[in-house]
Amino acid sequence: MDIQQIKNSALRAWIAKIAALCKPDAIHLCDGSQAEYDGLCNQMVATGTLIRLDPAKRPNSFLARSDPGDVARVEDRTYICSLDKGDAGPMNNWVPPREMKTTLNGLFDGAMRGRMMYVVPFSMGPIGSSIAHIGVQLTDSPYVAVSMRIMTRMGAKVLDALGDGEFVRCLHSVGAPLAPGEADEPWPCNRETKYIVHFPEERQIWSYGSGYGGNALLGKKCFALRIASVLAKEQGWLAEHMLILGVRDPQGERTYVAAAFPSACGKTNFAMMIPPAPFQSEGWDVSTVGDDIAWIKPGPDGRIYAINPEAGFFGVAPGTSEKSNPNAMASIRANTLFTNVALTDDGDVWWEGKTKHPPAHLIDWTGKDWTPASGRPAAHPNARFTAPIEGCPSIDPAYDDPNGVPISAFIFGGRRSTVVPLVYQAFNWAYGVYAAATMGSETTAASAGALGQVRRDPFAMLPFCGYNMADYFNHWLNFGRRLPNPPRVFLVNWFRKDKDGKFLWPGFGENMRILKWIVGRTHGHAMAVESPLGWVPRHGDLDWRGMETYERAQFDEVMSVDRDLWQQEVAAHDSLFARLRSAAQGDDLHPGVDPVCPVALARALGIAV
Ligand code: GTP
Ligand code: SPV
Ligand code: MN
Repeated sequence: MDIQQIKNSALRAWIAKIAALCKPDAIHLCDGSQAEYDGLCNQMVATGTLIRLDPAKRPNSFLARSDPGDVARVEDRTYICSLDKGDAGPMNNWVPPREMKTTLNGLFDGAMRGRMMYVVPFSMGPIGSSIAHIGVQLTDSPYVAVSMRIMTRMGAKVLDALGDGEFVRCLHSVGAPLAPGEADEPWPCNRETKYIVHFPEERQIWSYGSGYGGNALLGKKCFALRIASVLAKEQGWLAEHMLILGVRDPQGERTYVAAAFPSACGKTNFAMMIPPAPFQSEGWDVSTVGDDIAWIKPGPDGRIYAINPEAGFFGVAPGTSEKSNPNAMASIRANTLFTNVALTDDGDVWWEGKTKHPPAHLIDWTGKDWTPASGRPAAHPNARFTAPIEGCPSIDPAYDDPNGVPISAFIFGGRRSTVVPLVYQAFNWAYGVYAAATMGSETTAASAGALGQVRRDPFAMLPFCGYNMADYFNHWLNFGRRLPNPPRVFLVNWFRKDKDGKFLWPGFGENMRILKWIVGRTHGHAMAVESPLGWVPRHGDLDWRGMETYERAQFDEVMSVDRDLWQQEVAAHDSLFARLRSAAQGDDLHPGVDPVCPVALARALGIAV
C-alpha cells in the first residue's frame, strides 16, 4: 500500500511531517495481512531480533530478547504534558508542553536514519463500534509493528473505517539511529535517554528510546488508558485498567464484572479462571472479554456497557502453568511472540513456574547458558507473551460485540501480604470509590524500580491516569451519581500471607468461590454481615464444595482485620488525600478531594481521630 492512497488528508500530512523530522530510509504502510506479518517476522529472524521456536511445539511462534536495560515500563520517564500543570496533577510527571516539544523535536530529528518507518493504523475496540477509537502509530520497530497486529485490530480495514475522521497520533522511535553501513542490534533502544510523553489536549503520544511493552505498544497504556482517560472524563465514560469477565450460572444467566488489579496482580489469571470441578459440573462457567483494559460507556437503558479495546494479551509469563492458568497456556500454544523468557534445548520456551521442575539446561533471557544451579531466574520476572485473544478457549461470545457487555459489579484488589482481608463489599458507590481510591499494593516487576514496596495505587491507575487524580476521583463519584442503579463495588486481596510468608488463600481457580458470592450479592441473594470495612461473607456464606480441607482458622485469618494495622492504613489514606489537597491549593479549577472520607472510615473502625 502507498501513503498517497490514504484518503485522510490530515493523516497524510502528519506522516509527511514526521518523515521529514525522523528521516527514515523508507516508509511502509501496514495493511495488517498475514503475509505482511510473516514477512516482518522472517526479516527479524534474519537480523537476530527473533528466534523461531520449534514449529512442531510452538507453530508460528518466536522469542525476542530485549536489552537488559529495557525490560519494563519506566514510570519516572513517563510524562503528562497538559497545558496546565494542575491538569496533570501531583501523581504525574509534568513539563510545559512547549519545552517538552523542543526536547522531543531534537531527539526525533533523524532518529529513524537507516531504518524503515512503519505506519500502523489501528482500532481500539471492534471496528465501527461507537465505544471504539482509532489511532495511528508511526514506529521504526518491526517488533512493535507485529506486536500491534496481535494486540489491536490493525491495517487497511482501519483506514477504511477512519475515512476523514479523528485519530490519535502515536509516534514511536527506539531512539537508536544507524550510521551509514552500521548493522542493527537485535534489540535497538536508547540506554541513556527514554521519554514516554503524552500531550492530552492534542491527543498525541511521543515515545522515545524504549522498545518494550507499555512504553512502545502505544495503543495500550498510552492511548487506551492515559489519553482515553482524558477523553472519558470529558465525554462521561470510563477508561480503566480492568479485566472484563462473564460468569454463567447453572440457569444460563451471564453476569459480567470488571476488575481492577495493579500491574502483575492477577488480572489475566482472574479473567481466564476455570471454576473448581463441583462448580463446573453444576454448570458454572467463566468467560473472558478482556484481561487488561476496559472502556465503559453508559447505555440508553441506564446500564453501563464495557468493551475490551484490545485484541490480544500481553501477559506475564512467569507463574503461568497448566495448573495455574490452562486457558492462558492454550492461548499461547501457537502464533505467539514471547519476550524475555528462557529457550529450551528443543526449541521451546520456559519460565519460572511453568513446570514444577526446571529443565536441566536452558538459554536464559540474556542469551547465556543456564542450569538450575545458576542461582538466577531463567526468565525475566516481567517476561511476557503476546498472543491473539482468538486463541483463548474461554473467549466470551460477546468479546467482539460492538455494543459491549453490561457490567453488574466492579472489583478492586491490590497485592497485600498483610492488613487487607480476602474480600469485602463496599456499603455504597461513594464508599466503593473511597476504597478503590485508597487501595495500596506492593510494587512488582511490571515497572522499573524497587519491588515489594506498598504504595497507594488508586483504582490500579496510578501509572495510567492521564489527568489529575483528584479530578479522576470526582469523575468516578459523578459517574455513579448519574446511574439509576450503579454496580456494586467489591474489594479483594488474593495475596495475604501468614507469619511464615505462605499464602493464606490458594487463589487462581479457587477465587471462583469469592466470585460466586460477588455475583450472588449483585443479584441480592448471597448472605453477608456488616463489618467495619464493609459487608463480608461468613464462612457459611461461601460455597466450599471441593475445598472442604481448607481450615476454618485459615479463613478467619485471611478475613481478619487488625485495628492497629488499620489505624496505620487509614493514616496512609489520609496522606494520599493530603497530597492531592495540597497540590490543589490555590487552584480553583481543582478543588481536590473531600477530607471527610478517611476520618469517617477511622470512626467506623473505632479509631479516635
Ligand atoms: P498486567 O498485565 O501487568 O497488568 O498484570 P495482570 O494483573 O494481568 O497480572 P497476572 O494475572 O499476569 O498475574 C501476575 C502474577 O500474579 C503471576 O505471577 C501470577 O502467578 C500471580 N497470581 C495471579 N493470580 C493469583 C492468585 O489468585 N493468587 C496468587 N497467589 N498469585 C496470583
Ligand atoms: C502493566 O504493566 O500493567 C501491563 C504491561 O499490562 S505493559 O503493557 O508493559 O504496561
Ligand atoms: Mn496492565
